[in-house]
Amino acid sequence: MFHSKFLQFTVASCLLFATAGAASCPKTPDLSSFNSSVLPDLFTFLDGKTKVRTLEDWACRRAEMSAVLQSDELGVLPGRPDSMSASFSGNTLTINVTHAGNSITFAPTITFPANSTGRVPAVIGMGGVSVPLPEELAVIEFNNAEFAQQDSSPASRGVGLFYDLFGTDASAGAMMAWAWGALEVTPAARINLERVGVSGCSRNGKGALVAGAFEPRIALTIPQESGSGGTDSWRISDFILSTGILTQTASEIVQENVWLSSNFDQFANSSVDRLPFDHHSLGALVAPRAMFVIDNLGYDWLGPFSSWGAMIAARTAWTALGASENMGISQAANHTHCVFPDTQQPELTARQDTHVVETAGNYTFSVPNAQWAPWNVPRLI
Ligand SMILES: *[C@@H]1O[C@H](CO)[C@@H](O)[C@H](O)[C@H]1NC(C)=O
Ligand SMILES: *[C@@H]1O[C@H](CO)[C@@H](O)[C@H](O)[C@H]1NC(C)=O
Ligand SMILES: *[C@@H]1O[C@H](CO)[C@@H](O)[C@H](O)[C@H]1NC(C)=O
Ligand SMILES: *[C@@H]1O[C@H](CO)[C@@H](O)[C@H](O)[C@H]1NC(C)=O
Ligand SMILES: *[C@@H]1O[C@H](CO)[C@@H](O)[C@H](O)[C@H]1NC(C)=O
Ligand SMILES: *[C@@H]1O[C@H](CO)[C@@H](O)[C@H](O)[C@H]1NC(C)=O
Repeated sequence: MFHSKFLQFTVASCLLFATAGAASCPKTPDLSSFNSSVLPDLFTFLDGKTKVRTLEDWACRRAEMSAVLQSDELGVLPGRPDSMSASFSGNTLTINVTHAGNSITFAPTITFPANSTGRVPAVIGMGGVSVPLPEELAVIEFNNAEFAQQDSSPASRGVGLFYDLFGTDASAGAMMAWAWGALEVTPAARINLERVGVSGCSRNGKGALVAGAFEPRIALTIPQESGSGGTDSWRISDFILSTGILTQTASEIVQENVWLSSNFDQFANSSVDRLPFDHHSLGALVAPRAMFVIDNLGYDWLGPFSSWGAMIAARTAWTALGASENMGISQAANHTHCVFPDTQQPELTARQDTHVVETAGNYTFSVPNAQWAPWNVPRLI
């Protein structure tokens, strides 16, 4: 799963996104009375009638989902800065960024494989990497917390290098700020830019997913035990909580942290059914690039069934694009949070296409799913 995708993926599939936003895309209607208790159909536009049938349609639908995820939940991903310079010395890449008269400097460390020469594949560690990596990879340590603070306090909002650059009133929540920063660290420093992955665990797993979703140059996304705000569905997590299982939900998360844009509060405070997307849509933005979702059944708070449902639903995007082998999900039985268990090692390091979609949980979920995803999966042409 893991290794083979680095070798096989080419940026050519990113060209798929090139037509996004074209004038011929269906117009997104006023969504102020949107209300859906199920995961919105990935293959029907928000006008409620136009079906996604072709790759061009998908580029439009993908752009539509990206736009509503930004406006209602994550905040706006800024474009490229006015200027940027980087120098590499020792193991440290020093990056200076200037935008609208503001400047920041940050310095991720890069650990290259022993004796490596030439451009090597790399994994960006959102606050570090918690999965065992093959020796032939470089590891870029991205200090996301410096980029956008994320202490469990509302006072963290708007604090960090990202906001020094774009202003404290930028709509982006911490995760979108990290996503922006993660792309800026894909450096000129002996990294093979066609083989860059991103990984992180827990809150950093949420951040890894957002980075993979919004940066088409990232070839492999590995969110680990990311829970709500990551691979979980807001709707399914609310449902699980309603059955008495203590699970993190939207209404809790907006009080706890600044990971999301404050625009999300209105949905979290009323009903997540008003969201014209869910996190299957966030996951689907990664398709057809490689993604490997790692979960842990040991913590109810992480909502493992919510992640399973959302990621099985997200995976239909890969199926529709004819790339289902690029998306794997593995849920291991109970173990310590963010301590990768030996039992998942074969799935992580499989060198052949493994079609890993496995859970140690007693879960049944496929699409169409009468309760959560009553829609069909086309084969896009
Ligand atoms: C959303 O629809 C449900 C029925 O599916 C209804 O009970 C609920 O009141 C609606 N919510 C809003 C905000 O319209
Ligand atoms: C970044 O800016 C600092 C301070 O302005 C300067 O000393 C340093 O040389 C710059 N580094 C790069 C890579 O441009
Ligand atoms: C790196 O090269 C040195 C010198 O040739 C050698 O002794 C060492 O085993 C190599 N290390 C690895 C990890 O290949
Ligand atoms: C959401 O609820 C919180 C806590 O009750 C409150 O502080 C906040 O102002 C509300 N925000 C919106 C947009 O409704
Ligand atoms: C894993 O943990 C969950 C929640 O604590 C518990 O319900 C379940 O029985 C455990 N499963 C296994 C296989 O130990
Ligand atoms: C799995 O779930 C089904 C349906 O909820 C239940 O009947 C069955 O006993 C469960 N199996 C195990 C091993 O928990």
